[in-house]
Amino acid sequence: MKSKVLLSSVGLALIGVAFLIGFVDHEFGRKDVVAHQSGAVAGRSPMGAPVALPVAQPVELSPQAPQAAVQANPWTAPQTAAPGNFIPKKIALSEAHWQGMDTMRLTSELRRKLKFPRGLKGILIDEVTLNAAESGFLAGDIIVQVNNDRVTTLEEFQQSSRWVRNLSQVPLTVLRKGDQTQNGRFTTTRMTLLLRAEPDLGFAQVEAAPMIAPGDGRPHRYRGPCTVCHTIGTGFELTPDPDLIVLPPPAITKATADTGVSPHLDRGPCIACHTIFLQ
Ligand code: HEC
Ligand code: HEC
Repeated sequence: MKSKVLLSSVGLALIGVAFLIGFVDHEFGRKDVVAHQSGAVAGRSPMGAPVALPVAQPVELSPQAPQAAVQANPWTAPQTAAPGNFIPKKIALSEAHWQGMDTMRLTSELRRKLKFPRGLKGILIDEVTLNAAESGFLAGDIIVQVNNDRVTTLEEFQQSSRWVRNLSQVPLTVLRKGDQTQNGRFTTTRMTLLLRAEPDLGFAQVEAAPMIAPGDGRPHRYRGPCTVCHTIGTGFELTPDPDLIVLPPPAITKATADTGVSPHLDRGPCIACHTIFLQ
């Protein structure tokens, strides 16, 4: 009798240990590494569910490419197989373009920066060309309604544009910056403008934040997990960004350099950036 009790409690203890080992393995096991070796990147969708994305096979070094060249730089030499591109299943939009207007959501960060009233929500127009310019919109206007639909996110903005895509004009309600008040924020004036396009308006096209590399730091304040907004990898963006390519500063004469006076603010010694001609 006694030995039976002893046996069963030993049995129970063994089951408990086995369960614990299984639990530890499940919680802390290097499943990511296993998935990696099988040619898939283990990732997490913004909702938290693990997703496996297919990735291109790592590029083989050609026989001519010396292995030493890779090993020479310990900072760039991959420790393990480099992760493939990570394209989140669901990604937050960061821009929408419609009939010549470039827009983005007015976040609290932008509201503070541009000194718009606290709590104001809408879609910020940051650039205007083409039909939007002809229709009277200005950069800095905040769109709050498209054809009486309230819009506060780019997803809503795009959806409302879909409903009017076959029309040739639609009223948009915008808030335009007015005077600066004592608290430093600007007042806004509400107005309705007709966005016109021939033969039809079509709907807004959208974009997400630019691709980033796995090791990138963030130039902006913390906005949440990077993959909510960014794809991570290579090949999604030309670097350097052609928008940012600037021509070298023009050559200046020594006489100009000697005056020490430049048309721009002090940027340092002239010779650091300009070619200086003797005359
Ligand atoms: C809520 C969305 C969001 C999140 C989350 C986010 N970013 Fe960004 N990020 C952006 C947007 C939009 C830009 C474009 C410029 C801007 O708005 O500052 C950007 C720009 C960048 C850039 C410059 C890229 C370029 O090519 O100009 C880097 C680098 C970057 N983010 C890194 C990060 C990192 C690292 C994280 C995570 C710690 C992160 N971001 C989280 C939205 C986000
Ligand atoms: C860090 C780089 C930098 C430094 C240092 C610098 N400049 Fe410039 N400068 C530029 C760039 C870039 C431009 C082109 C226009 C612009 O970006 O403002 C320019 C434009 C100019 C121009 C207008 C030339 C034209 O033909 O349009 C003059 C003149 C000039 N700089 C003079 C000076 C002088 C004088 C100094 C030294 C006291 C100086 N700069 C220092 C970068 C620099």
